[in-house]
Formats: sequence, structure tokens, C-alpha cells
Amino acid sequence: MTEAIEVKGCCLTYPMKDGSIHALEDVSFSAREGEFISIVGPSGCGKSTLIKVIAGLLPLTKGEVHVEGILVKGPHPNVGIVFQNAVLLAWRRVLDNIMLQVEVRKGFDKEEYVGKAMELIKMAGLAGFERRFPWELSGGMQQRVSFCRALIHDPPLLLMDEPFGALDAMTRDEMNVWLQKIWTEKTKTVLFVTHDIAEAVFLSDRILIMSPRPGTVKEVLDIDLPRPRDMGMREGVEFNQYVGKARRIMHSG
Ligand SMILES: Nc1ncnc2c1ncn2[C@@H]1O[C@H](COP(=O)(O)OP(=O)(O)O)[C@@H](O)[C@H]1O
Ligand SMILES: [Mg+2]
Repeated sequence: MTEAIEVKGCCLTYPMKDGSIHALEDVSFSAREGEFISIVGPSGCGKSTLIKVIAGLLPLTKGEVHVEGILVKGPHPNVGIVFQNAVLLAWRRVLDNIMLQVEVRKGFDKEEYVGKAMELIKMAGLAGFERRFPWELSGGMQQRVSFCRALIHDPPLLLMDEPFGALDAMTRDEMNVWLQKIWTEKTKTVLFVTHDIAEAVFLSDRILIMSPRPGTVKEVLDIDLPRPRDMGMREGVEFNQYVGKARRIMHSG
């Protein structure tokens, strides 16, 4: 069976005027269809670089990436991306921000996608807000709009780069529960970058722990907790053993 993502021996060096920056060194891993994988690692270890490589936004120095069995050579429609900031256009209403994704791509029937956008809006708990402007929404709601925008063309793979990093702790907890629910319903493969280990344990099937720059995969940790997971679980012994283990691996050697 084809893996959803296959990353093989990936190296990436950013060429700079005053010496190059070696961001990724021999990164390899794969993700199964529908799997939720988190990527954790110290700041600057190449997490965002890796996400951009998988999205086809950055060329590799060495190695290759396949998404849905297809070699990534440049930007491709098999991914949706959510960044730390919602990056919504202030002058466009919620629905029009989501539709932007369709408008910039050729061969999409706009009418058909308005219906899909409205479904996503409902799923994201934003029904009634489709005609509002981004600045009329809370941070969590804005991030849910950017999530809808990433999913409108129904990509099999969702890449999320610290999507809840700018939210307060309570909103973040709510978003974690929400994301788990959506992921269960939509059965997407997800790569989720976070620096919050508890968040990673809560959401993931597996956690990829990266070393400091140049980033390599230090260890992959299976999270064998039953689903659906609720916030109460975060107080449990098993949950906290996973958090401790991930933290120890991250800070070791
Ligand atoms: N466009 C770029 N040009 C040069 N260096 C970059 C660029 N983007 C990131 N870097 C450097 O590459 C390393 C990895 O960055 P990044 O992937 O953003 O790390 P992370 O997301 O894990 O914090 C860092 O040292 C960063 O300064
Ligand atoms: Mg980053």
C-alpha cells in the first residue's frame, strides 16, 4: 500500500551570503493514510522547513519526498496548510477568505465550492459568521477559518505548523478537542508541528522528536492511548508518562 507521506534521506541547506545554514540532515520517516503525526523539537531545528519541503515550497539539497505516492517536485494540490497565524485577508469576509483557495486555482467550479465552504463553516462551528470579517472573530475562530480554507479543495494531507501557538491556553485546549473530532470525522493524514509536548501526546498516533539543528529524527514515539481522548485524560498517569518520556528524549544527548 502507498504511504500517505514518504520522506527519504532529506537534507536541506539554505544558501546564505555569509555561509550556509544546514537546516535538515538525513530526515526520513513515513506516515500511513489517516495517521496523526506530531513533530516536536527545539526552536530552529527545521520543523517549519520540513513542512515547507513536504508542501513542495522548498527544494531539497538531497533526498526525496513522496505524497500519496507522487514525487514532490514543487507546490502540489495534495496538501492543505495551516500556519501559526491565520493569515486571513482583512477586507474579505469569512466565506470569501475560504473561497480564495478555489479562486486562485484553475478548473474549479466556484458555485459547487460555495456549498462545500458552507459545510466546512458549519463543521468548524462558524455557522452564522460566514459574512463577518476576520477582525470580528476571536483568535480561535480565525484559526478555524484558516483551517476551512486549507480543507476546501479536499486534500488528503493536512500540514499544520504550530496552528495554536498564538492562542491562550484555554482556547488551545478547546481547539485540541475540536481538532481531534474533525480529524476523526474527516480521516485526513495530519502532520502537526507543535512545541507543546502535552498537545502532541493528546492529539497524536505518533510523535516525531527532532534533534537540534541540523534537524534529524531523534526518535519516533507511539502514543497508545485510546480514542476519543478528553481533557480529563491529561491528568492520568499513562498520559503523563508519555509526556515525560517525550520530554526526556527531546532533552537527551
Ligand atoms: N528562508 C530561510 N533562509 C535562511 N535560513 C533559514 C530560512 N528559514 C529558516 N532558516 C533557518 O533554518 C533553521 C531552521 O528553521 P525552521 O525550519 O524555521 O525551524 P523551526 O520551525 O524548527 O523553528 C533555523 O536556523 C532558521 O534560522
Ligand atoms: Mg517553525
